[in-house]
Amino acid sequence: MIVTDSEQRISDICAEWREDGLTVGFVPTMGAFHRGHLSLVETAAVASDRVVVSIFINPTQFGAGEDLDKYPSTLEEDCASAESAGASAVFIPQTDAIYPAGFSTGVAVSGITQGLCGAVRPGHFDGVTTICAVLFGIVRPDLAVFGMKDAQQLAAIRRMVSDLRMGIEIVAAPIVREPDGLAMSSRNRYLSAEEREQSSLISRGLEAALSLFRAGERDCEVLRNAFLMTLKDASVLRAQYVETVDPDTMLRVETIDDRVLLAVAVFAGKTRLIDNILIKSEV
Ligand code: PAJ
Repeated sequence: MIVTDSEQRISDICAEWREDGLTVGFVPTMGAFHRGHLSLVETAAVASDRVVVSIFINPTQFGAGEDLDKYPSTLEEDCASAESAGASAVFIPQTDAIYPAGFSTGVAVSGITQGLCGAVRPGHFDGVTTICAVLFGIVRPDLAVFGMKDAQQLAAIRRMVSDLRMGIEIVAAPIVREPDGLAMSSRNRYLSAEEREQSSLISRGLEAALSLFRAGERDCEVLRNAFLMTLKDASVLRAQYVETVDPDTMLRVETIDDRVLLAVAVFAGKTRLIDNILIKSEV
């Protein structure tokens, strides 16, 4: 497996692969891998001939007071596990190479990025779409895999790729969870024992809402309240938002016709966790 910090090198390698008629899959990440990240690499390896993984803690998507300075970095382990999951190359660029002096361009997706995390993390999604556009320009993948855990990010990337005719297939990978249901996240390592224990209520609350839907409930307010009720005795959990939205547009839905995304952000102590569930009829 190739490991490089050189934009020129990764770009050349990908160009050679394409010339040889091989398809290139891409998994952008910020590192500190858990099984969620590795499932994306495995998905990319099944769907394409070569897989590039990038590890870049992108400063422009962190707000003031967020965890940029303490964001975990486990590069050696990440490279080893990426290779086992099927990566052909890992690209680990330096920040000043990605954003050289004079870098002046931003890609912003409106609408989709306004609510949910966008409302409480101003500028976050502009940072995400801009870095993804830059990385897509370097790697020029045939497809890129994103996790459904970050559903609003996934929707924004799909919109950007479609609006800017980037010609990249965006593949969505399901949320990978701990045995007790907590969605895997690089930030779970910040949790105290008590926070970790109570955090399993987040996925339980989402499941409670799904059960109500399966029992015939179609009023989204009832589903949102079912989530909140599950958290009500959890002393260290505090919901930041609980929203029911269309999974493509991220616009609020009040009554379910077809499907709805129940998306939540919850503070466990000082750590902010996000999770969601796609609620729809079983087929
Ligand atoms: P990061 O948080 O490292 O996540 C990288 C990818 O892993 C994203 O597509 C995310 O949705 C996916 N992922 C994280 N936890 C997951 C889980 N439990 N199950 C399935 N997939 C999961 O998201 C980012 O980095 C950045 O915003 C990035 C896109 C790299 C741009 O900087």
